[in-house]
Amino acid sequence: MQAVANSPIIGAVMLPMRVASVERPVEDVKLFTLQALYGERLPPAEPGAHIDVHLPGGEIRQYSLVDCGDALHQYRIAVKRIKDGRGGSAWLHDTFDVGHEIMMSPPRNNFPLDETGTDYIFIAGGIGITPVLPMIERVEMLGRRWTLHYAVQRHEHALFRKVLSDYGGKVIFYTSRESNPSRLDLHAVLSAAQPDARVYCCGPAPMLQAFRHMTANWPSGRARMEAFEALEESDRSGGFVVELSRSGLSLNIGTGQTILEAILEAGVDVPSSCRDGVCGTCETRVLAGVPDHRDVYLTVEEQDAGDRIMVCCSGCRGDRLVLDL
Ligand code: FES
Repeated sequence: MQAVANSPIIGAVMLPMRVASVERPVEDVKLFTLQALYGERLPPAEPGAHIDVHLPGGEIRQYSLVDCGDALHQYRIAVKRIKDGRGGSAWLHDTFDVGHEIMMSPPRNNFPLDETGTDYIFIAGGIGITPVLPMIERVEMLGRRWTLHYAVQRHEHALFRKVLSDYGGKVIFYTSRESNPSRLDLHAVLSAAQPDARVYCCGPAPMLQAFRHMTANWPSGRARMEAFEALEESDRSGGFVVELSRSGLSLNIGTGQTILEAILEAGVDVPSSCRDGVCGTCETRVLAGVPDHRDVYLTVEEQDAGDRIMVCCSGCRGDRLVLDL
């Protein structure tokens, strides 16, 4: 048994996992601890990494890993119940329990920590603390200067509050709905950042939209953010042609239509799940043309490379795209 527990899972596309424990650290958030079905060592995870959880209905949801390292025997994910969501978080909260099995992807990191910096600023809102926690643990271990600005509605909503409080003045809590509210002033935090500071942000869509807007002209790699929901509308402007190289089809994308909808209508199969640019299921190779990216799945660098597109939400900067379909 010991031999199995110490054997790593290598090269797996999917990981069969079992729920080892479930906690409810704050209202509307469940913390799931998952282990490999046969107790093997899990693939390593970097700070900021997430996994894709494949729900029984075929949907895929992304959750950040709370723990990182090279020799993990468990992954922990925090799941917030999304009111009026698409049902994934509700299923995980209401049905998923100790002993249940589920498939998930190995860790993927769209929110990598640049360890070459000397100064770090982390900004988190609510459940967005999840990928940030292993990052601050890492920079603390490396002996770097860092500050975390963590915004929640009330003190009792702060996830990992005890762990974070142990860092003393390096962690600044903001509570918008206490009797004496203290609000995070994103503009002030970013304006005060040292020119060489690395800044990382994860939180609700309005926070990320503001962050993206305020750091739009910053040098590449200095400001990074992680989103788990769409930050802008899917492109339905139409008025361009999509050529499918393998199918030999040429599709006129009309107003009100996404590329994915046009492709499916033409009878060509493309896997999809979230249809919101979040999960990466519909990722397609671009052979010619320039995509107008609307997803939150690809990193900025991957988007700039222009060789991949999420056809469920992205459009075309020009009049023609050629896809490897
Ligand atoms: S279907 Fe999820 S990114 Fe396109």
